[in-house]
Amino acid sequence: MFLWALFLIALTASYLSFQSFVDTSSRYFNASWGGMHWEKQIRASATPRRRGGVSVLVTGAAGFVGTHVSLTLRKRGDGVVGLDNFNSYYDPSLKKARKALLTSHGVFVVEGDINDARLLAKLFDVVPFTHVMHLAAQAGVRYAIENPASYVHSNIAGLVTLLEACKSADPQPAIVWASSSSVYGLNEKAPFSEADRTDRPASLYAATKKAGEEITHTYNHIYGLSITGLRFFTVYGPWGRPDMAYFSFTRNILQGKPITVYRGKNHVDLARDFTYIDDIVKGCVASLDTAQKSTGSGGRKRGPAQYRIFNLGNTSPVTVPALVGILERHLKVKAKRHVVEMPGNGDVPFTHANISSARTELGYNPTTNLEAGLKKFVKWYLSYYGYNPRSGGGATKASKSL
Ligand SMILES: NC(=O)c1ccc[n+]([C@@H]2O[C@H](COP(=O)([O-])OP(=O)(O)OC[C@H]3O[C@@H](n4cnc5c(N)ncnc54)[C@H](O)[C@@H]3O)[C@@H](O)[C@H]2O)c1
Repeated sequence: MFLWALFLIALTASYLSFQSFVDTSSRYFNASWGGMHWEKQIRASATPRRRGGVSVLVTGAAGFVGTHVSLTLRKRGDGVVGLDNFNSYYDPSLKKARKALLTSHGVFVVEGDINDARLLAKLFDVVPFTHVMHLAAQAGVRYAIENPASYVHSNIAGLVTLLEACKSADPQPAIVWASSSSVYGLNEKAPFSEADRTDRPASLYAATKKAGEEITHTYNHIYGLSITGLRFFTVYGPWGRPDMAYFSFTRNILQGKPITVYRGKNHVDLARDFTYIDDIVKGCVASLDTAQKSTGSGGRKRGPAQYRIFNLGNTSPVTVPALVGILERHLKVKAKRHVVEMPGNGDVPFTHANISSARTELGYNPTTNLEAGLKKFVKWYLSYYGYNPRSGGGATKASKSL
């Protein structure tokens, strides 16, 4: 009897250790992350190089805004680790090129999804991040009609997975994340102020960003996570997004192809509060610098935590025909305009930011107008794609997005 019991115990023990070996193997051999070398790279990238520097996990780091924010933080001596899934919403080779730029500056970018809870837990296990700059999202308004699930995947499920990881991390990081001006939806009162209603989104994209504001509030309330939500207004500039109008207009104008210019009801031109990337980056960095610490620990709140929302815009809307005029001047090519009535697919007629709150609390002060900003964009575009690009910007799945 005793020998039988001993035999059974030995059998169970060897089965359990086999299981754990299989689990560990699948984790380290099937996944594109993990291992001692990988951890060493993460630690090196996350280590600040200046006294008092912060250690930031930047999600969406291979994206337009993520690349610029990561570079700026790295250049001033902060520790930065990037995370991006390199999805093919727009040409992934542009994302890879941005990653190469980051790598050359010592920023390590992990290829992974914010829905991967194990990866996130591992990252927080390896590095006690002080901040998370959360920029990973499914962007674009019109693509939601084609692929609604991608918005739920990244902007809702992914956000919750990330917040769960942040809540459990010890120490809990402070979170700064990108909401959007699109939350103002069908509002007509201008300029848009943070106190205005945001319950009439015009697109699924806007609805997921609005949901993100509510979800982050919940994690702030229950777990004491420090949260700053930034409502960006149409960001543009070098290394920008090929799905956006200023980018695809540039490509088409250079290729001699017509551009479609949408017009609102009663022949009113659409207008956007175009905001230059460097101004947005300053707002992001100021948000990180003024973010208070999260107050929770071990998944429990110890006291009330900071919750903030700021508009980051330029406060001077420009119409789309005026945007085209500036591009024509910088490119020295006349556009073939095809003006059509705006279809009801999620776009709003105008955006205009009131930025007094960001001015007061972040010292935010946009300094680049559209004329100057587009000059820099065109210079970058021509150096990146050349003068006569065959596929400048690559194939985008979405139609252009303002
Ligand atoms: N650019 C703008 O005009 C603008 C305006 C308002 C809000 N925003 C918001 O700012 C943020 C950055 O925008 P952007 O213009 O740099 O867009 P972007 O598409 O260039 O960057 C987002 C990055 O996130 C990555 N990503 C998407 N889903 C992911 C997932 N599930 N896991 C990991 N990575 C994922 C993408 O591969 C991409 O590289 C986004 O949250 C966007 O919604 C942008």
